[in-house]
Amino acid sequence: MKAYKIEAVLHIYEMAELSEEDRELVEAAKQATNSSYAPYSKFRVGAAARLQNGVVVVGANQENAAFPSGLCAERTALFAAGAQHPDQPVVALAIAARKGSRFLDKPISPCGSCRQVISGMEDRHGVPIRILLYGTEGIYVSEGISPLLPLRFVGDDM
Ligand code: THU
Repeated sequence: MKAYKIEAVLHIYEMAELSEEDRELVEAAKQATNSSYAPYSKFRVGAAARLQNGVVVVGANQENAAFPSGLCAERTALFAAGAQHPDQPVVALAIAARKGSRFLDKPISPCGSCRQVISGMEDRHGVPIRILLYGTEGIYVSEGISPLLPLRFVGDDM
């Protein structure tokens, strides 16, 4: 038997260490939590996607009384970007979450379905997406989806 070793490295930055572009994107994700519709979980998540041309498209989680019909912030942002700017690759995605008015100290990380959609968005344009996960104690940065979704399924596998 052989072992298949998987290594994932994220980097943790302070806000001041980020580039101005990344800082702006994180601020846009924090701001986007205001558009969250989360009457059931009361957990407000915002996401902001930067396109290659510099345009920023935001999303926020949208819940529904039939729970599975709701959608995460990441996917609302990415699907809006894909629908409004079909020819533009997404180059970075920032995510922020809060309970009440308090942003989380440790960042949340995208759910499995969102990871698959981020992966699909990378494959669609052949461009990796820099993922910035905001927490008050630090911003976790993943260069592309691969560290968060190793051995992922891509269209080329079919
Ligand atoms: N949620 C997101 O929007 N993004 C995540 O990465 C994790 C979870 C939302 C879905 C639901 O509205 C609420 O947070 C609680 O799970």
